[in-house]
Amino acid sequence: MKTEISFFLNGSKVIVPVDGHHCLIDILRGPLGLTGTNEGCREGECGACTVIVDGLAVNSCLYPALEAEGKNITTIEGLQGPGNELSLIQQAFVDNGAIQCGFCTPGMIMSAKALLDSNPDPSEEDILEALLGNLCRCTGYVQIVDAVKQAADKLKDKS
Ligand code: FES
Ligand code: FES
Repeated sequence: MKTEISFFLNGSKVIVPVDGHHCLIDILRGPLGLTGTNEGCREGECGACTVIVDGLAVNSCLYPALEAEGKNITTIEGLQGPGNELSLIQQAFVDNGAIQCGFCTPGMIMSAKALLDSNPDPSEEDILEALLGNLCRCTGYVQIVDAVKQAADKLKDKS
């Protein structure tokens, strides 16, 4: 039996029927068609499925879909500008060679965004802690941390 829920997804209200056993990633990638959020382990271990719910980075593979009711949810698709230009964080990943196979990238970027939204001047330790739940099987961690540092610097310049 399905229950209809509504929430704000990348700034727009959506209404979607969900089964009780669905997790958020199931409705994002399924009926909502947003396949930028990747599914890796489905056990809360890899962070590939990270999205932002009410300002916090969460593993959408573990987040019950019914809990999304009334929330503000941002996925990687919500970061681009109106002309589909890359966000500052996405561009920093490109500039720093922080994308290899790209599987971890949406989750990494969403964790980085949640960090920078709450802490615009993070230390290296803060960045490492924020990315602790995100695994990169290509092991490009140095470039990923550099990308987050660059994004933080550019965001500071803008403000
Ligand atoms: S797919 Fe969600 S943490 Fe790995
Ligand atoms: S770039 Fe391949 S998993 Fe991170």
